Amino acid sequence: MRIEENRSDEKVKVSNESKRKRRKKKMLPVQKLYKTCKEVFASCGPDIVPSPEKIQTLAAVLDKMTQADVGLMPDMPFFDSKQAPIITYLHLHECDKFSIGIFCLPPLSVIPLHNHPQMTVFSKLLFGTMHIKSYDWVATTDEGDVVPDDVAPVANPSNSYPDGLRLAKLKVNSEFTAPCSPSILYPTDGGNMHCFTAKTACAVLDVLGPPYCDAEGRHCQYYFDHPLANFPVDGVPVPEEEKDGYAWLQEREKPEDLVLLAAPYNGPKII
Ligand SMILES: [Fe+2]
Repeated sequence: MRIEENRSDEKVKVSNESKRKRRKKKMLPVQKLYKTCKEVFASCGPDIVPSPEKIQTLAAVLDKMTQADVGLMPDMPFFDSKQAPIITYLHLHECDKFSIGIFCLPPLSVIPLHNHPQMTVFSKLLFGTMHIKSYDWVATTDEGDVVPDDVAPVANPSNSYPDGLRLAKLKVNSEFTAPCSPSILYPTDGGNMHCFTAKTACAVLDVLGPPYCDAEGRHCQYYFDHPLANFPVDGVPVPEEEKDGYAWLQEREKPEDLVLLAAPYNGPKII
């Protein structure tokens, strides 16, 4: 009799253990994303990039995420072509270390060229086809070599040009169709200034570390990009045959035709 009781206790223990394991396995993808972001950005801040291992960890979590994990379907009204050019932003989370949100783009809508000062940004295309064009700043060394740089032009006279122009190197100029790996940009590399053009309806899950913060100087700045030939300037340190890989960037006000609307996120909750 006693042996049977013990066996029964053991069964209860095994049963509880397997339930616990099942619960652990059942962590929702969006919850896993939040938990991973907390770990990855814990010791980061402005201009402080997560370690390569941590970048890899977060990229792997994002890589597995789908539209269903955030409760989205391409036939939702956000993505209707009649909605264009209105882009909807679904806010999932923001703290001083990172933010998580989703841009819902109807076909042909555009998020114009803008920057991500001092940030590391992960963008995961959940569905659809999107064209990404991105740039990094360029500066010159004392030897005249072209190097990426985050130093303001006034601090680097060789990179100061008339009309508020600043030299940038083209990083990406391609179409992406989901499913594809997340794209990652860094404070001074990876295409810190980018422009998204929706070729079809699409949704982009964005993780920013740290988030924009006007009070801390992380303001979202918009830019025009001009071919180098439009503004001939002496002493531009770019060989003639490589000029297509560079552009002048010029600050602009937020475009009037850009309509970014916030809407409630109704997918699985982050706890
Ligand atoms: Fe962006």
